[in-house]
Amino acid sequence: MKTTERQIALIGFLQAQNCTTIPAAWRHPEARHDVTNVGFYQDIAKILERGLFDLGFFDDRLAMPDMYGGDHRHTVEHGIRCVKLDAVTVLTTMGMATQKLGLGATYSTTYFPPFHVARVFSTLDHMTGGRAAWNVVTSVNDNEARNMGLPQAPAHDVRYDRADEFMEVVHGHWDTWEADAVVADRTTGVYAQGNKVHRLDHTGDHYSSRGPFTVPRTPQGHPVIIQAGQSGRGIEFAARWGELLFMSNPNLSRASENYAQVKAAVEAAGRDPSQVKIANLTFPVVGRTMSEAEDRRAAYDLLPNLIDDLSLLSEGLNFDFSEK
Ligand SMILES: Cc1cc2nc3c(=O)[nH]c(=O)nc-3n(C[C@H](O)[C@H](O)[C@H](O)COP(=O)(O)O)c2cc1C
Repeated sequence: MKTTERQIALIGFLQAQNCTTIPAAWRHPEARHDVTNVGFYQDIAKILERGLFDLGFFDDRLAMPDMYGGDHRHTVEHGIRCVKLDAVTVLTTMGMATQKLGLGATYSTTYFPPFHVARVFSTLDHMTGGRAAWNVVTSVNDNEARNMGLPQAPAHDVRYDRADEFMEVVHGHWDTWEADAVVADRTTGVYAQGNKVHRLDHTGDHYSSRGPFTVPRTPQGHPVIIQAGQSGRGIEFAARWGELLFMSNPNLSRASENYAQVKAAVEAAGRDPSQVKIANLTFPVVGRTMSEAEDRRAAYDLLPNLIDDLSLLSEGLNFDFSEK
């Protein structure tokens, strides 16, 4: 009988915070609370690598979820994702504890200048020997805006229009150093060849960035681009820039439809769909047997209280559910 081999890619969806995506996870009897210590993240990294995961990837938000009732007291008291560390810094430490694991972090195009983000991720790619990935998000939440100097998040499509230009600048900088630019030749006294390091000189509708960029071309050429746009405009953006795309679907048939839609969008953007990977979000509960997994699941179901979920829902949908 002919068998077809298929390669499965495993990605660990991680949070550099005091809980998992389940806000009450910190209450679990086996939960570790050393979430501000390097050992916590290095242990996760080693487990993922041992389990043959391709990538460990951190989400990010630039605000504490206090939209529910506009008060952070409940957030810190209930531990609803009230600790959120900078993911790239954490990833660097995970890179030091592993050899092969891909290392991805989320960074927003709305609140950082493109030169800065280009430099952060190309530095990460160098520091990890070519294992860096960037999840490009535009940030939906008004609390993030308030932390970063704006009264509210810019409108949805405006964020993506800006993000398109942001990506042009970032990729532009990444490409300004040719791969063989650095020669570091003591005899000739030439460090890098002047004709192989270019200046970007970008001036556009939303950004201007001159260069030259200060990080030589990275082991991967550029870090892997992850994207998770789900709307029409978001998928258009993902199809233009993304190399690994996240989808969130409740069942296989919806996931198949979404998969076909996204692959078609990649083709419409003039790119090769086979070069773009798609990963669907799942929340597995692992046990040695089915009943052990079910018991684990049941233990998690007992942990949350109503406010945990309402608070995170308020934050995710940018709406205060405490209002009558
Ligand atoms: C698996 C997954 C992870 C995501 N991680 C983040 C994140 O860390 N930070 C963030 O601001 N948005 C995150 N998002 C939101 C997406 O970037 C995107 O905004 C959202 O899916 C809605 O799509 P749209 O922007 O096209 O409306 C994530 C979405 C998915 C499906």
